[in-house]
Amino acid sequence: MKKYYDFLVIGSGLAGLSYALKVAPHGKVAIISKTKLEETNTSYAQGGIAAVTHKPDSYNKHIQDTLTAGDGLCDEDIVRLVVEEAPGQIDELIRWGAQFDRENDGRFDLAREGGHSEHRILHHKDNTGSEIQRALSRQARVHKNIDIFQEFFAVDIITQHHLGKLVKRAHTDTECYGVYAFDLKKHETITILSRVSLIATGGTGNLYSTTTNPPIATGDGIAMVYRAKGTVENMEFVQFHPTALYHPGERPSFLITEAMRGFGAILENQRGVQFMDKYDQRGSLAPRDIVARAIDNELKVSGDEFVYLNCTHLEAKALKEHFPTIYKKCQSVGIDITRNKIPVVPAAHYLCGGIKVNNWGKTWINRLYAAGETASTGLHGANRLASNSLIEAIVFADRAAKDSIQVYKNFDHQDNIPDWNDEGTRHPEEMVLITQNFKEVQQIFTNYVGIVRSNLRLHRALVRLEIIYMETEELFKKSTLSKPLCELRNIINVGYLIIKMAQQRTESKGLHYNVDFPKAGEPLRLV
Ligand code: FAD
Ligand code: SIN
Repeated sequence: MKKYYDFLVIGSGLAGLSYALKVAPHGKVAIISKTKLEETNTSYAQGGIAAVTHKPDSYNKHIQDTLTAGDGLCDEDIVRLVVEEAPGQIDELIRWGAQFDRENDGRFDLAREGGHSEHRILHHKDNTGSEIQRALSRQARVHKNIDIFQEFFAVDIITQHHLGKLVKRAHTDTECYGVYAFDLKKHETITILSRVSLIATGGTGNLYSTTTNPPIATGDGIAMVYRAKGTVENMEFVQFHPTALYHPGERPSFLITEAMRGFGAILENQRGVQFMDKYDQRGSLAPRDIVARAIDNELKVSGDEFVYLNCTHLEAKALKEHFPTIYKKCQSVGIDITRNKIPVVPAAHYLCGGIKVNNWGKTWINRLYAAGETASTGLHGANRLASNSLIEAIVFADRAAKDSIQVYKNFDHQDNIPDWNDEGTRHPEEMVLITQNFKEVQQIFTNYVGIVRSNLRLHRALVRLEIIYMETEELFKKSTLSKPLCELRNIINVGYLIIKMAQQRTESKGLHYNVDFPKAGEPLRLV
């Protein structure tokens, strides 16, 4: 079955929905989402969205904080562009119905997070993402030009390759005509053709055993673009959030927002020692890479399984008011945050790299855009500043929408696209073959490609991943399509890119810390 649209959007988080709402007045839009519209990383965002709203903050301060966190690898023009366009995009969110907390005088109640020199994080309590998702999902559901395909899995983008033409890597004439999407309820694959498409499939946290990301985050968009020979970059920069709730067996790990440290909570080891000051003069509010590495080091040296976040000295009423979700969640596992310290550990959280795009969100494949966590825009460099991802998602979705509206009429639908070929792939595979390989990949990444890396660990990871890659490609050729199999294939592709790019970087930079290339001036030897 073939369906025809002007705009195709793969992903229903902030990047996908905001793009869809902006192009929808110009033509028919299809949004596909592999689970429910609301099951996105966006919905889980807690701390908030960074933007300069009033003095004493300034664009220059936000730019400088972003550049400092990025450890010399940010694209300064892109940083300026995002910071300057951020306030306008906040207005858009408010027009769509998203609400942010305000002071009594009507000004935004701004929070502060690690690496920020000012209070500049707009938030809705401690559940900002679900508030944004709520507002945008509501708008998308009632828009007459938007068709929503929930529980449709994008398997591969369609390019000349599917017309039997050879596509070389970095071939600048490659074009995207749409996507093969697997209907998870009917178990059939349909062809969605579009004039232009946007990939907004989010992150890759599920590559690791411990992650704050929901199960949807398996790097599908990056894997699809890599297979289509588009350009992917900066994959070695995987961000670990320093403070996920230590609650073994729970997946995803529940996040304890950095805004809590901005509010005065302090990191301590199990002996009650505030250890952050010996790693960085900014203490508990140092940028994330430094805090996550420091915790990792404390745990390795002490043999402990977690450190504590202590907020028991803060005013109980204010704590409950600002962090109601965290208060409730911790209470549900027997921790009263006003009296008890919270056990925390780092968890895989965000991917800084991804599908390379230009300053209009265009990928290196024609007719294809990317925005949000799946894209690499140049904003984050080697380490993302807290709360800079939601703002990046909406700024780049806006730019991609503007460009798409300008050009989409130049492209006709490609009419000779074959249906998905499932000849010879009619054997359902035993699930255990898939789930076991998925677990093995997670163990490889957790043990060898985590917060602290080494040449030997990266080499081991690659050798083991290659075996699982061969097994999985074999399986993919002969099995019926299924979501777990497609996700396993994608996570392996994405994992391969992370290891290869980590091996190519012969220095420690930002989130990529390799003990064989120690950082100049590192205060402590990290294990
Ligand atoms: P997502 O919101 O993840 O949406 C991805 C979409 O793609 C989903 O709809 C999914 O179903 C769909 N999809 C994926 N693969 C396929 C496929 N093969 N076929 C069909 N559909 C597919 N950032 C901040 O700036 N501030 C914060 O306070 C903050 N807090 C966070 C807290 C947590 C716990 C987490 C996990 C992240 C947080 N982040 C925060 C990061 C931020 O939430 C994400 O980077 C951002 O929301 C990503 O948005 P997105 O639109 O790119 O993707
Ligand atoms: C948090 O609330 O600590 C997460 C913020 C982010 O990931 O940007």
